[in-house]
Amino acid sequence: MPEIQHDISLKKYNTFGVEAQASHFVSFGSEDELNALLKDHRLNDLPALIMGGGSNILFTRDFEGLVMHNNIRGMEILEEDDSTVLVKAGAGENWDDFVGYTVAQGWSGLENLSYIPGNVGASPIQNIGAYGTEVKETIEQVQTLDRETFIPVPYSNNDCQFEYRNSIFKHRLKGKRVITHVVFRLSKKPDYKLSYGNLKEAVSHKGEINLTNIRDAVIETRRSKLPEPEETGSAGSFFKNPVIDSQAHQQLKAAWPNMPFYPMDNNQHKIPAGWLIDQLGWKGYREGDAGVHHKQALVLVNHGQATGDQIYQLSRKIRESVLAEFNIELEYEVNIF
Ligand code: EPU
Repeated sequence: MPEIQHDISLKKYNTFGVEAQASHFVSFGSEDELNALLKDHRLNDLPALIMGGGSNILFTRDFEGLVMHNNIRGMEILEEDDSTVLVKAGAGENWDDFVGYTVAQGWSGLENLSYIPGNVGASPIQNIGAYGTEVKETIEQVQTLDRETFIPVPYSNNDCQFEYRNSIFKHRLKGKRVITHVVFRLSKKPDYKLSYGNLKEAVSHKGEINLTNIRDAVIETRRSKLPEPEETGSAGSFFKNPVIDSQAHQQLKAAWPNMPFYPMDNNQHKIPAGWLIDQLGWKGYREGDAGVHHKQALVLVNHGQATGDQIYQLSRKIRESVLAEFNIELEYEVNIF
């Protein structure tokens, strides 16, 4: 059974780099260790929080309970034929190391999702997405453990109820399952998606269109717009891009003719929250060490010593101003704790 530690700082376990204490902390590296921990009666009364890479969480207070750090590692080919490969990765694998490995193998599907902070196990929870693709396009199965019955429960792609930045693990099964592994089906044949923004052009600057050049172009684009994870604390996009109906869209378009949007199914329109926030002059704004990134207004940052609560208070002001000006209620993408 893994060792339980007490009064542990979570600063290095969350990419915002904010200080918060966990009264108890444990790291598990296998399904068996997780099982033993879940069955341990001494722990059953404690509130428990499962954490992966800590890249989508903002702690606004200490955690009085047990933080369980998911460190299940390993990558394994389950099946392959001439055109596809089925590869399984441990939830605790670093996401971008995994993407780098698949690109080096010549497997296509995850290259547009390069350089996203966090671990493999978090990728299905919010159906991570970037540059015109979402992880749901490659997920074959999500393997989990039921926290109450301790029984392994696999979820097919369809079972996961994937939507834009959403899945069953974020609503109906929130806190009820621990993701242990994710199985991806990747393509051995080129199947590139280059229609987002100027991605195609960025790739062509690198030379021929291939997996490595796509990965490099995505990494370069992200580095030019988003804070460097080692330098500035953040959790990527703080809010989701809102989806509005065509009537609301028409009204806004009349007032803001330059407003970008992406058409969706059912006459809905997705509006970039970064653009809305930027229009209101927040980009680069700073209150102490809590701030809005100077190149991408959707990203809140910790310039050093900000507390989680300071970042949260800033996010509330931003939400209020977007509501007042655009009549849009922004939803948090980050989990606020
Ligand atoms: N924009 C502005 N000002 C800003 C930010 C954006 O005017 O400060 C405008 C851009 O000019 C562009 C549009 O808004 O016209 C969209 O911007 P961008 O391409 O940067 O993408 P996004 O919609 O802001 C989403 C994801 C990102 C992902 C990018 C690229 C969400 C919530 N965010 O951002 O994901 O990297 O697309 O695909 O969907 C993340 O989830 O943490 C994340 C970084």
